[in-house]
Parts: sequence; C-alpha cells; structure tokens
Amino acid sequence: MESHFSDYHKELVLILDFGSQYTQLIARKVRELGVYCEIYPHDLDLKTVRSMKPRGIILSGGPSSINQENAPLCDRAVFDLGAPVLGICYGLQLTAHLFHGRVEKSPKREYGKAHIYIEKKDRFLEGVRDGDIVWMSHQDKVLAMPEGFITLARSDNSPHAAIRNEKGTIYGVQFHPEVHHTPKGKRILKNFLFGICKLKGLFSPRSFVEIATQRIREEVGKEKVVCALSGGVDSTVVAALIHRAIGKNLRCVFVNNGVLRKNEAEEVISAYKNALHLNLKYVNAEDTFLKALKGVKDPERKRKIIGRLFIKIFEEEAGNIGNVRYLAQGTLYPDVIESVSSKGPSATIKSHHNVGGLPKRMKMALIEPLRELFKDEVRIVGRELGVPENIVSRQPFPGPGLAIRIIGDITKERLDVLKEADSIIREEVEHNPAFKHIWQSFAILIPVKTVGVMGDERTYANVIALRVVESEDAMTADWARLPHATLDAVARRIINEVPGVNRVVYDISSKPPSTIEWE
Ligand code: XMP
Repeated sequence: MESHFSDYHKELVLILDFGSQYTQLIARKVRELGVYCEIYPHDLDLKTVRSMKPRGIILSGGPSSINQENAPLCDRAVFDLGAPVLGICYGLQLTAHLFHGRVEKSPKREYGKAHIYIEKKDRFLEGVRDGDIVWMSHQDKVLAMPEGFITLARSDNSPHAAIRNEKGTIYGVQFHPEVHHTPKGKRILKNFLFGICKLKGLFSPRSFVEIATQRIREEVGKEKVVCALSGGVDSTVVAALIHRAIGKNLRCVFVNNGVLRKNEAEEVISAYKNALHLNLKYVNAEDTFLKALKGVKDPERKRKIIGRLFIKIFEEEAGNIGNVRYLAQGTLYPDVIESVSSKGPSATIKSHHNVGGLPKRMKMALIEPLRELFKDEVRIVGRELGVPENIVSRQPFPGPGLAIRIIGDITKERLDVLKEADSIIREEVEHNPAFKHIWQSFAILIPVKTVGVMGDERTYANVIALRVVESEDAMTADWARLPHATLDAVARRIINEVPGVNRVVYDISSKPPSTIEWE
C-alpha cells in the first residue's frame, strides 16, 4: 500500500553534540516542532555528515572553552554543505572562532535570566521583542565578530548574543533557546527550521506510525516475530506497532514471574487481548520463580535468578512457536545515541527484557522499531495506536519487580503484604491525576518488626516504607514533597487495610547519594 505520508527522514536535522546537558532537549524541541533530527558526536566525519544529506545542522552547547587546548571542534566544511547551521552557546563560540572572530573568557560567568535587545531585524528573531528574557549559561563570549557576520541582538552582558553571516546561512545564539526559561526559544527554533532551513515539518507520531509500519512490513515480509511483553510502555508499544504491520505473525509472550503487582497480570493480559488483540501466550511461572528465589537475600542474586529464568522460559516459548526469524525489542533513542554528553544515562536503566545476548543465541535478527524515539514520543505513538492509557502513562517498573522491594527473603506471605500496601499507594498517587508529574511511587517491605497498639492490644508487625520521587531520567531524583493529607491517607489506609503492618515511614533521601530502589 502506498502511503500518503512524506518521509520525514528526508528532512533530517543533524545535531552535533559538544557535551551540553541540554543536547537531548534540543532534539526533543526540534521534534516537537515536527522536524526529525538525530544527535551525533561533534567530530562525526564529514563523509558521513554528507551522506546523511542534512537539511539543517545545529551545533550544541558544551562545557569546554574554545580557547582551551584540545577544545572540541567540528569539521569546518560542515558550514559549506548547503544546509543552514545554528550554533548554540559553545556552538556560537566555535562558529565565531572558526571564522576568525575573537572569543574570550569574561571575568564574570553569565548565568540565568538575561534580556536581549534587537540590533538588526531578521526573520531568525521574528516574534522576539526588545527586553525579552533568555536563559544564559556561559563564561566565554564573542568579543570581536568574525568577518562577514552581523550582530542581530545583544544582551545585558554579551554584545553579540545572536549573530548571522551575511548570506543568512549561518546563525548563532549565546543563549539557550531549547530550555523553557527562554520563553521565545521555541519560536526562535521554529524560525530557524521553517524560515531559514525551509522545512515543512513532516515528523509527527502519525507519520512515524505510518512509516514504521511500512518499514516493518518490508523488512519482515511473511516471517514471524516474537516479542516479550512486560506490561511496560516500551514493549507494549513495540508490540502494538508490529501487530499493526504484520498482524498474527507477531507472537507475544508474557511471563508472570510471580513478583508483579496486585492484579497486574490480569490487567495487562486483558489490555493485550481485548484492546490490542495481540496474539499472546501467557505463561504463569509464579511458582517456578518463587521456588528459585527461596532463601535468596542478595539483591544482585535476585536479579540474576529472575533474569536467567526469564530467558530460559522465553527461549522455550519461542522454540515452541517454531520458525521465528525476528526478535522485537523496545530499545529507545537515548540507548542509541553515541553523544559525548550521554555516556549512557539510560544504559543503567535497562530492563532485563532487553537481553543483549538473546537474539544471537536464538539465531534471530533483532527488530527495534522505536530506536528513533524518545520516551515521551513513545507514549504519544502508543496513544495513536490505541494502547490503553493505564499502560501508556504507567510509571517505570523494574524487571525484577517486587523482588527488589522486599528487603531480604521473599516468601508468599511477605509478597502478599507488599502487594496490598503497594496497591494502596498506586491508587492514591499513581492513579491520581494530581500526581502525574511523579516519576515513581511505591512501597517497600522492610525486614524489621516494630511495636504498635491496636485497640487494647500490643502488636508486633511489619514496617512499610514509601518511596515517591520526582525525576527526569532516573539518573538523579528528588523525594517528592507530597501533601501531608496524601501521606496521611496512604499511611492510614495501609495500616488499617493491610494485615501485618503497623507502621509506615516516608523515605526522604534523594539520588544521589541514595538510589530510587532500596535494593
Ligand atoms: P536506582 O534504584 O538505580 O533505579 O536509582 C533507577 C531506575 O531503574 C529502575 N531499576 C531497574 N529496572 N531492572 C530494571 O528493569 C532492574 O534491575 C532495576 N533496578 C532499578 C528503578 O525502578 C528506577 O526507575
């Protein structure tokens, strides 16, 4: 079937990364504007750059100083490819340096809000007014403009806060248009992409779905694909997408490892079967996992046991299907980027379902249809594909599940206590729209009993800890300042409704130096 969607890959914007913490944010903003972009290390070789036929190039910020020894550079010829270039912060300083301007360290670091003032009207700054606020974070600044360049705007502290070359093919800004503290930042990026690069903006979740579907059909043909479902967003969206492309030839396997949350298996199976109509094999391996975990206290051993057993069961199931050529995985773009700044934020959050050695061992080829997407895009694509909201907006849940939230021994009784307590915090926080911004909220069972009173009786029962954190990417996290009324409701309900618990405590540590999980 011929698609009426134009291929957004033809409008690629290349982002060269000089190490800024904001590089991924630039990419996300550009994509929000409907333009497909990819991030690469700053020294990507020219041949590769050329072969990608970028329609625009953005040079990111970075922590270095252009005058330092071994300052990160890009090939000067990048400016001559015919694609407009935008340098941001360090990217601007690098541009000025490569074109023989003078960049120097100022005695004072300019950090935070600043105002800009227009020096020369230009479509790049269309919609920006004198005095508008921009976000600065730099110490070096351009003091002498390179020849053939014009100043478009100055700021309180930078005489050349926005510049361009005379031809209007190279632009630079000292401030960060990608952060939300620059209110007109998105407008400026829009001006660059549509006014200067002359792009149409072909990228959208809809167009992604159409093009990904076509590609999967082309690649897979009439072969079978197997996919392990975990109930999480990534694996579910992968399955929904491949199912759209090849229907029943996608075989899904959902393994109940016994350490899922209360009613979780039933809920996700119902979504998979009734809402998504997936060809699903449900494997209830609760007993096998709990037997293997018996007496195991060490968290890393718990993880290994669960990971290995999962692979074994999954391999058996895939073997039973027979003649499966492809294994689908929910790898996302942050796992793929080889940028200088992201030496693997998400590398540490890999779920045990993303099992590296598996495809080779099983002689299967890997298909990873979400490799181009950021997490927020995966959620939008999921909604587009009809994935139910309770899965799309679900908090991250670790592969080893409740096993690493029961400190010490895992027994059926202790699991039941935790499942009940956890379901209460899910109801009060995860399912409450007021707390949508919460990254994770869950309960932990501590292997300590404390004294309490209930009626006239003295009790000696379990302690539940509550962990609720806010985070962007799980690399750092802060404990959530939940309203006292919410904390009160959760604690009261747990103590009243969960037999065997007489105390609830709230974890007020941040990451680092703590971690999100307790094990
Ligand atoms: P920590 O505890 O390291 O957790 O701050 C960071 C993020 O990773 C999740 N996590 C895991 N996910 N398998 C997973 O799939 C694991 O073994 C694992 N350990 C931690 C955790 O829930 C948080 O989102």
